[in-house]
Amino acid sequence: MAIQKKILRSLAGEVLDTPPIWMMRQAGRYLPEYRATRAEAGDFLSLCYNSELAAEVTLQPIRRYGFDAAILFADILLLPQALGAELWFETGEGPRLSTITNQADFNALKGRDDIHDTLAPIYETVRILRRELPEETTLIGFAGAPWTVATYMIAGRGTPDQGPAHALKAQDRDVFQSIIDLLTESTIEYLAAQIDAGAEVVKIFDSWAGSLKGQDFVDFAMEPAKRIAQELKRRYPHFPVIAFPREAGEQYIGFAKAVGADCVAVDNSVTPEWVAEHVQKDGCVQGNLKSSHMVTGGTALVEETERVVRALSGGAHIFNLGHGITPDADPDNVQIMIETVRNFRS
Ligand code: CP3
Repeated sequence: MAIQKKILRSLAGEVLDTPPIWMMRQAGRYLPEYRATRAEAGDFLSLCYNSELAAEVTLQPIRRYGFDAAILFADILLLPQALGAELWFETGEGPRLSTITNQADFNALKGRDDIHDTLAPIYETVRILRRELPEETTLIGFAGAPWTVATYMIAGRGTPDQGPAHALKAQDRDVFQSIIDLLTESTIEYLAAQIDAGAEVVKIFDSWAGSLKGQDFVDFAMEPAKRIAQELKRRYPHFPVIAFPREAGEQYIGFAKAVGADCVAVDNSVTPEWVAEHVQKDGCVQGNLKSSHMVTGGTALVEETERVVRALSGGAHIFNLGHGITPDADPDNVQIMIETVRNFRS
């Protein structure tokens, strides 16, 4: 059967007249209907584990805007929680976890096959979504990349420079490598379970890839992504994978090919013209309008949206932001962005 869904066609390398669109964090606090459902759930983590309500917030931006893809509503830090780390969110500050800093902490974690009891509600969210999404909408599952998840597990929180993770990598290489390996193997099982439940694409979020330099980038950004993509494709031949090594800079060049991903998502540290010249020749790219245009709007929003579409129109492209939409974004600007993409003619 021929592939019909636009996102899947782009991921297969087809160049479409109009790029398909979705937006990182499209289910989020900028939407009043998200805030209402989150209040009903109680808090963010309760929302993630409530399959009915998590499916509801996933569907909200699809109903409002008709995006071409829905991304499962969950969080990259649910996997460490399923491995036995404590996880909570401090209001107004962000995530907190119990820390993993030595062999004893690592030994106390569960194994890769022990994650599914905790994560079962997430798989149920995926099943509900596959039933309820419009047939033209693609369902994206996701996980954090091992390095990015490890930075939170080691520090117990978000850190501006990932200092504690870099320190452990330097001081206790064996424990650090054990954490990366456990995360790589459990991410494979987590994503495979999402695929079994109905996810049609998976995306690997490596938000802190940019702080890995030289051989570290190869060992801890590329190698784990490659292991994950290869094993998923061994189990599910041709299953599409999107990699997002955020702020990889020059290392975006050849990344998708080297790790075996079908698409690389790009952030705003690179221009769309540079991406067209250096990255898109390997296949589909996703990105990369600055999220701040969703706050500021106006002619700059329209012009920069057109610039991204024009620059990347010569190859396979999925339109997206360079990073997640922020809570202070104006929902009307999202509508303007979508109309600009869909009405663009070069
Ligand atoms: O894109 C999506 O809408 C899908 C769901 C999704 C969330 N987080 C929901 C969320 C995805 C894919 C993520 C990924 C994620 N989570 C990353 C990688 C991508 C990135 O943004 O760099 C990271 C680093 C996290 C960890 C995390 N989760 C942080 C640091 C925070 C707090 C910061 C913030 O924005 O509040 C979260 C919370 C979070 N995850 C929210 C959402 C919608 C906000 C929670 C709320 O409703 O209060």
